[in-house]
Amino acid sequence: MTAAAWPALEGLVYGGDYNPEQWPREVWDEDVALMREAGVNLVSVGIFSWAMLEPKEGLYDFAWMDDLLDLLHANGIAADLGTPSVSPPAWFFAAYPDARVTDKDGRVMGFGSRGMASHASAPYREAIARMATELAKRYASHPAVVLWHVHNEYGVPVAEDFGPAAVASWRRWLQERYETLEALNAAWGTAFWGQRYDDWEHVVAPAATPTIVNPAMKLDWARFTDDQLRECFRIERDAIRAHATQPITTNFMAHQSWNTDLWKWAQEVDVVADDHYLWSPDEDAHVGLALSADLTRSVGGGAPWMLMEHSTSAVNWQGHNTAKRPGEMRRNAITHLGRGADAIMFFQWRASRSGAEKFHSAMVPHAGTQSRVFREVVQLGAHLKDLAEVQGSRVEAEVAVLYDWESLWAHDLEWRPSDDMQFRERMRAFYERLWRDNVTVDFAHPEHDLSRYKLVVAPSSYLLTASAGENLTRYVERGGTLLVGAFSGIVDENDAVHAGGFGAPLKDALGLTVEEFLPLREGRAMEIAYGDAALSADVWAEDIGLTGAEVRGTFVGGPGDGLPAITRHQRGEGTGWYVGTRLSADALAAVTADVYADAGITPPSFPAGVEVISRRGDAQDFVIAVNHGDDDVELEITGADLLTGAEIEGTLELAGGGVAVVRTASARQGGGQ
Ligand code: GAL
Repeated sequence: MTAAAWPALEGLVYGGDYNPEQWPREVWDEDVALMREAGVNLVSVGIFSWAMLEPKEGLYDFAWMDDLLDLLHANGIAADLGTPSVSPPAWFFAAYPDARVTDKDGRVMGFGSRGMASHASAPYREAIARMATELAKRYASHPAVVLWHVHNEYGVPVAEDFGPAAVASWRRWLQERYETLEALNAAWGTAFWGQRYDDWEHVVAPAATPTIVNPAMKLDWARFTDDQLRECFRIERDAIRAHATQPITTNFMAHQSWNTDLWKWAQEVDVVADDHYLWSPDEDAHVGLALSADLTRSVGGGAPWMLMEHSTSAVNWQGHNTAKRPGEMRRNAITHLGRGADAIMFFQWRASRSGAEKFHSAMVPHAGTQSRVFREVVQLGAHLKDLAEVQGSRVEAEVAVLYDWESLWAHDLEWRPSDDMQFRERMRAFYERLWRDNVTVDFAHPEHDLSRYKLVVAPSSYLLTASAGENLTRYVERGGTLLVGAFSGIVDENDAVHAGGFGAPLKDALGLTVEEFLPLREGRAMEIAYGDAALSADVWAEDIGLTGAEVRGTFVGGPGDGLPAITRHQRGEGTGWYVGTRLSADALAAVTADVYADAGITPPSFPAGVEVISRRGDAQDFVIAVNHGDDDVELEITGADLLTGAEIEGTLELAGGGVAVVRTASARQGGGQ
């Protein structure tokens, strides 16, 4: 069957995970009444309900789900119907003990948690197909069901499985990829340490070994693990699609996702959905939130997406679970919206009294409705109603940041020149610089067509294929500006160092290769003389071999003392910049100011801590402003404030901690701010 298009609902979506099976039936009536009060129009149900839906193998009990969906529909609330494959019941593991996950050290994961099934297990795959089929047959035409939510956060809590079924799949996967052992031996460089294979049956999983495992093998293992998860998604999706037409999604975790290559996953879903939780140790967690939202939008090709889960206040699974302060939830939600989300949802509707997540915040907290959190939940619901016209508008960016999960997997393998050179840290530092400069970005894969961007930033592209290198070189030659961070262009798709020196694929674009890495001892720092400025840097120096680039910054102190650190190269119509060290978001400012000038970008200026994003509609634009600071500020803008109804004639007063969404004239039609 063909999928119906998302969105299926008019206006913005508001709601959350709803787990009514944890509550007596009378609470459901109260729930739907409160959902109406809060303006909730979509809830995700059934995600963890397998044991309730199939209490014994082959014996289904859909009566309670029928009742629930009817109740929701009668109250004008739509359902995002989950498939419960993340949590098979106790009977399943008793009947199929081999379907349990085996970890790296050979320990078999027991029952009593969630996410315990081996994705390679044949009985598991058959069982999830059966369950998805039963659900789809029963609810294909239920009027409440507007979306399917397959599984939950693929890859957590476990992605890798080292059990016999997984190892057998792994061998099949390798045979398909390489066809011959000769090709596998070549790709994995097995001549090193005498790892050569002469029989497919001798190829094992990269489990516990005396010292580090062949890195190319591990990189393939990461690809295989991701493929296995996606195969499981397809099994369920296709089972649903055989009977039902509602769009199908699953919830991603953007920058927090390790095991899933979301460029590939986004191709498989009808609408991209993401979960995001603030990271408590991060004082500027709202920057990470923005990164995550931009990445989610980008993997979906810019289409409006769903924020499937975030929290109303504290989570429960970090070391120090900080509560959101008044107004913070609203700022978070509106930032997601500003960066392209047309659905704002939470984990979860009503706080659980029992179980592992009883200290997790919810839309209806333990304190009940006479609480700050519930009042803010109701307020946010009202806001989203007022913002209905934003639905469908899009974020546009002049800058792309390169993000590649394969590079993340390869980069974070063992035995690198410095443990302190980390993919995610570099991504965040460069992103934060752009965020603070109010430069809206898309993320892109290094092999994408980048020609529409004025600037492409590659904070951390350790793994860069030869064809990606050619793509980036072409981009520069045709007039683009490229900014590359250290430890980029080092290895190919097999984690083998490129011939021609470190960074060889970018040699033409950057006018250099790197002769030797000169990492610093832990805790040491140095400076970079950059024009008149002295930028503090740490972790990484290197010995650059110039092949045409001009030196713009020089190491002062440290192992690279006196050597080039930052370079600029003109190639064809464009420019390639290189930063051969680790600079913080602060220190990067001096460099990016020059890079913007080359790229012809003039970042707008707003008061510090104020985040301003635009969404473009067909006939008008929307400016979304979020004040993360405590001070009231003024922004120059003209238009209609959709939350207050006020007409803004040139100056918007934005309170400390406040948010605003202003409808402005369309920039495309020559108006705008
Ligand atoms: C998510 C998960 C939810 C819930 C939530 C708590 O990762 O999908 O089921 O556990 O975390 O923050």
